[in-house]
Parts: sequence; structure tokens; C-alpha cells
Amino acid sequence: MPPRPNCEAASAMGSEQVRIRRDIASMSAYTPTTSLDVFAQRLGIAPENLIKLDANENPYGPSPKVVEALAALPNMQVYPDPESGRLRELLADYTGVPAQQILCGAGADELIELILQLFIEPSDVIINTPPTFAMYSFNAPLYHARSVDVYRRADFSLDIEAIQDAVSRHDAKLVFLCSPNNPSGGLIPLEDIKALLELPAAIVVDEAYIEFAESESLAAWVSDRPNLIVLRTLSKWAGLAGLRIGYGLFPRALMPQLWKIKQPYNVNVAADLAARVSLQDIDFLLERVRQLIQQRERLESAFAELPFLSPYPSRSNFVLNRVEGLSAEDFRDRLARAGIIVRYYNNPRLFDHIRISAGKPAQIDRLLDVLRTLPID
Ligand SMILES: Cc1ncc(COP(=O)(O)O)c(C=O)c1O
Repeated sequence: MPPRPNCEAASAMGSEQVRIRRDIASMSAYTPTTSLDVFAQRLGIAPENLIKLDANENPYGPSPKVVEALAALPNMQVYPDPESGRLRELLADYTGVPAQQILCGAGADELIELILQLFIEPSDVIINTPPTFAMYSFNAPLYHARSVDVYRRADFSLDIEAIQDAVSRHDAKLVFLCSPNNPSGGLIPLEDIKALLELPAAIVVDEAYIEFAESESLAAWVSDRPNLIVLRTLSKWAGLAGLRIGYGLFPRALMPQLWKIKQPYNVNVAADLAARVSLQDIDFLLERVRQLIQQRERLESAFAELPFLSPYPSRSNFVLNRVEGLSAEDFRDRLARAGIIVRYYNNPRLFDHIRISAGKPAQIDRLLDVLRTLPID
């Protein structure tokens, strides 16, 4: 992967007139997913012939009603509603949480940053539970927090005692949890969440994939728990990843503070409208979610039959696998040459693993055909 343009600019800066933060100058860049067009150019394959299963996006895209509404999008010349008022009312109906406890953002990603801004004073600690979504620990130092890792066990379950111990040793203010967890796919048991909610720290549960879990969201708990924050998004189930729209469910007491610091126009008019139309077409979108769950189940059983993949059980729209007999990087490259893009991991805690998102049935047919004929040395 070539360096991202902003990194080149930072490292090329020799001037004494511009002095950026030294910790940023020396940090590594986050590697986001690449767009379909860039993959197509890199692989020399037309974008329409590529199958993108690397970023847990929704292959069906948004509701057709969203596409229709956006084609006639009004009011692009005026700033959006800074309170996303109508959207928050619809989210209140959807989640059962009062609108007064909901804050919208440009994706759940923005809300992760907002939470760090709200809580962190220099050197405060957040608890991270890898392998998990990278943005919690990536953003922490940008807001002067220290991220302390409490690793999950080999089966990716949380080590509750170790988290309790780390919170008390570091006087941690925030614990970031992801359920279903990305990239392992499993849900955190409710007893574990209950135990962690007893801690003197805010517990942030990222439920980006909850619609695929066929399980209750923790939304219903937010009203009675002063230290529970739940993050949700329309990127996955509603197919709006490109429009950047997510939301947080917060304890009542935090809301006035969050309103003070939120960027006034963080949710743009297109995202706001698309989210509102999606929330009025829930049955249609959840039917697609059911189809994706079926494809995920199909992937889990097909992978278990292959000698070179060991899948972990998933409650999300992707399946993590240990790759055996070849490197995960090699495996990823072979699939890429066949026009199928997947995500691979090769850090010390997740060595030789790949994560494959659920796709449309025809995409999964093609993936499984390629896998069944893959020459393994
Ligand atoms: C666990 C998790 N949380 C949050 C996000 C980002 O969500 P959004 O697109 O709403 O910023 C992702 C995206 O992949 C994710 O996997």
C-alpha cells in the first residue's frame, strides 16, 4: 500500500516555520479500506467484475427509496439542522431511547472521537480489548489518552477480571467494547456487560453490527445506567457507509456537554435525509439483513469444509478465519487476482487470519467456486 498523501506531506516537512505535533509526525497512519475504483486500477480488473468483501459494507446498498429521495435532494445551499431533530425522533422510535438521549454523527467513527474529546484529559487511560475495531486505540493518542490493551482470550471472549483490574490500576475513564466484535464476530455475553457496568468508568459498547446479531441491543439499558454509551450506525444494515451517518445513545447527564462540543453541522443534508428515509423503510432493509445473515451462515459452513480455513462463529455480517497451510497475505493476493477482495490480518495477536464479509448469493457462489479450486502447495 503506498503511503497516504498526508503522511508524505508530514514527513517531508523540514521547515522550522511549521511545527506540527511531534507525536503525530512520528505516528503510523491508519490504513482504511480502498475504494473499488482504486482496487480496480491496481488489479487491472473492471470495477463491475470485482467482489468487495473486505470492509463489511452492505452489497445491496441503500433502499431504492433513499436513491429516489437523494435524486431530488432539496436545500443543499443551506446548512443542515444542527440538531438532526427529525432524524433523532425516528431513531427514538427505532431504538426505544428518547430523542433527548440520542446524538447523531458523521458515522460512529465521529462519535468515538467526540467521546474521547468529552472525557479525556492529558494522560487519562482508556481500556481497549484487542483484537477489536482499530479506531478506539487509533484515536486515543490524538486526544492525549493512553490506550491500555487488555487482550481477549484465544476464543476472543473478554477477560473480565483483567479489565476490572486494568480499570482500577490505571483509574481508566473509558472502556471501549465492540459487540458483535469486529473482526472476531462474536457477541459479548450480557453478564459480562453487567459486570463491567459496575466499574467506575464509562462503558462504550459499539453495536455497529447489532442488526445482524439477531439479539437484543443494549439500547434498552441506556435509560437506567449512568455509565453506558451505545454506538450504532446506518453504514451496515442500511447500506449508507458512503454517506457517513451514525448515532450514539447516551446517559441523560452527558447530553448537555456533548451538545456543547459537537461540530454544529456534522451531519450533512444528504446523510440526514438518507437516514430518515431508511428509517421509514425498515422492513425492506431488514429483509436484506436477513439475506446477508443467510449468506454469512453459508460462508461459515463452507469455510469449515475447506482444509485451509478455520472459521470462528459469527453474529455479524462477516466471518473471521484462521488460514492454515499458506500465509493469509498470499491467500488474500490469490483471491484478489480472481477479483475478490478480502481483509487480512498479520499482527502478532491475529497472525494469518482473514475476514470475509457476507455478499449477495451470486458473489458468494463465485467466492466458493474460486476457493474450491484454489491450488494450495
Ligand atoms: C465496530 C465498528 N464500529 C464502527 C465502525 C464505523 O462505523 P461508521 O461507518 O458509522 O463510522 C465500523 C466500521 O467498519 C466498525 O466495524
